[in-house]
Amino acid sequence: MPTAPLPASPDPTAGPSHVAIIMDGNGRWAKARGLPRVAGHRRGADAVRRVVRGAGELKIPMLTLFAFSTENWTRPADEVSDLMGLLRHYLRSEIEELHRNGARLRVIGNRGGLADDIVRDIADAEQRTHANARLDVNICINYGARDEILQATRVLARKVAAGDLPAEAIDEQRFERELLTAGMPDPDLVIRTSGEQRISNFLLWQCAYAELVFVDTLWPDFGKEHLEQAIAEFRRRERRYGGVG
Ligand code: IPE
Ligand code: IPE
Ligand code: MG
Repeated sequence: MPTAPLPASPDPTAGPSHVAIIMDGNGRWAKARGLPRVAGHRRGADAVRRVVRGAGELKIPMLTLFAFSTENWTRPADEVSDLMGLLRHYLRSEIEELHRNGARLRVIGNRGGLADDIVRDIADAEQRTHANARLDVNICINYGARDEILQATRVLARKVAAGDLPAEAIDEQRFERELLTAGMPDPDLVIRTSGEQRISNFLLWQCAYAELVFVDTLWPDFGKEHLEQAIAEFRRRERRYGGVG
């Protein structure tokens, strides 16, 4: 009788170079404890701190975190306002810790929709950390992949209409240059917490060949050990990119 193949053992050298996380489950974490949703978001910010530190320790070159989507504006006004308040607090209080950890912070999303003081804090935080090279930390705020793709399409369409760009010159590389992630490598691994198994408008173009790992842990409970487990799962996968492996 043929024996079942042994699971591939994790290759400790096989990346990932870019881990992206859909940080989900703050509300359910709070609900399970009879607390208001904002308490879950607060604990979620603590998890961000742990995971950024953990990513540095695990020598992951790039970490991208989905913090607020273009669709999250549809939540009740008081929750949106709590989230924006936490974001302000995070940008001001965490920047020194990020800087000490050698992290370069970049915010990805439509800044036009954010309050002026938050836009200023983002610019200050990016400026303060821009020369750091140990770890890239991208935080997606007011980010939606469809919005991003439409913006890129509009920019290119205008250039074509003005006669500055032949339509035939629009290939994947040219298109990527107009995305908010221009110049960044695509995520190798996307982790979503809280048991939901969907993309929710996150990096649709960039995740074309990402490995997806869904974990039941709610985001406020997520830590370095969960990150390590997801990376171990990633290393057991065979990436084929449409080929035969
Ligand atoms: C993730 O937690 C944080 C944001 C999307 C802003 P949720 O707030 O979505 O938590 P659940 O999904 O309701 O548990
Ligand atoms: C995705 O989570 C967005 C972020 C983590 C910022 P949501 O909680 O908004 O996604 P859905 O509504 O469950 O798809
Ligand atoms: Mg959610």
